[in-house]
Amino acid sequence: MQSVKESAINAKNGITIIGSGSAIANQVISNEDLSQIVDTSDDWISSRTGIKQRHIATSTTLSELAAQAGQKAIANAHLTPLDIDLIILATSTPDDLFGSAGQVQNLIGATRAVAFDLTAACSGFVFSLVTASQFIRNGVYQNVLVIGADCLSRWVDWGDRTTCVLFGDGAGAVVCQGSGEKDNLLGFEMCSNGALNNTLNLSYQGNLQDIGEDKKINHGSFSNITMNGREVYRFAVNKVPEVIEKALFRANLTTDDVDWLILHQANKRIIDAVASRLKIPENRVISNLQNYGNTSAASIPLALDEALKEGKIKSGDVVAVSGFGAGLSWGASIFRWGN
Ligand code: ACO
Repeated sequence: MQSVKESAINAKNGITIIGSGSAIANQVISNEDLSQIVDTSDDWISSRTGIKQRHIATSTTLSELAAQAGQKAIANAHLTPLDIDLIILATSTPDDLFGSAGQVQNLIGATRAVAFDLTAACSGFVFSLVTASQFIRNGVYQNVLVIGADCLSRWVDWGDRTTCVLFGDGAGAVVCQGSGEKDNLLGFEMCSNGALNNTLNLSYQGNLQDIGEDKKINHGSFSNITMNGREVYRFAVNKVPEVIEKALFRANLTTDDVDWLILHQANKRIIDAVASRLKIPENRVISNLQNYGNTSAASIPLALDEALKEGKIKSGDVVAVSGFGAGLSWGASIFRWGN
């Protein structure tokens, strides 16, 4: 196994983002299917959210989805699993509360890599990308696999029409690499506001149980997702344009320099409102939430990977990504794709 010191000798301090991959959960559930279980309609869901269908994982684990996306990203970067120094798994829905990154490392066969989970809900991919870049910038690691993967369907109340129509499962990944010649992570900004934490939750709920005289334990489990939709909507439309502009400022760029805008795929109306505030025209906005719904930490790398495969995003293009969600948390990153 290569030590951190040996790895540091090879590391370069600029960053390139050089490979992408994604994995889609097996089962499609349409708006029509949902109208069979709750009082809703394709018309309501499509017009309020832009979502037509979502994919739900019933035959794969979160770790398997994440590993599939990671393997594709590594191959797309023309690397092997043994080249990877670090795996960051952005997820709020691990198979194991102790973390799923270790399982992903094992499934991929990235035996040299250290692996850990990073929990920041729908901001998880952006926060992980920035975290990865710090390990590369400080010279510790050369090749970092960043995966965003979530199976929020596990924690949705399928009898609550206000939330169950919104979410889907999936995974997306990119490989970040140290570079001596280029630094393609151009700017970023990250924010948190815990005062608004109760706007969007997947909370632990414990019950006190007596286990002896004056002794208790607190035992329970996580409850379903609860959300104040209107508050989240207001927060996103106000804060996301601001955080993108701050990241652009740090990159010494303006919205005119942005070739592609990829926002967390939560709601078409949020995406349209943010793009409009930034004066970025529709033909430079990537969106695929009609097919996947809100896949949380997976939504940005999933949309990025599809846009790359479709030939929309090309090497050298400037991409602005922004994630936002529970915490509340939000962030943006500006990068130039490829090497
Ligand atoms: N089908 C039919 N009617 C519905 C449904 C549904 N699926 N859901 C809610 N309604 C009803 C409500 O009960 C309400 O009825 P009422 O007027 O009789 O009380 C009516 O529709 C309007 O409800 P609102 O909540 O005001 O609807 P709104 O236009 O705000 O849309 C939505 C709701 C889509 C959730 C919107 O607020 C939104 O997108 N918010 C952002 C949510 C979000 O992005 N969350 C995720 C971000 S963070 C993360 O990714 C984890």
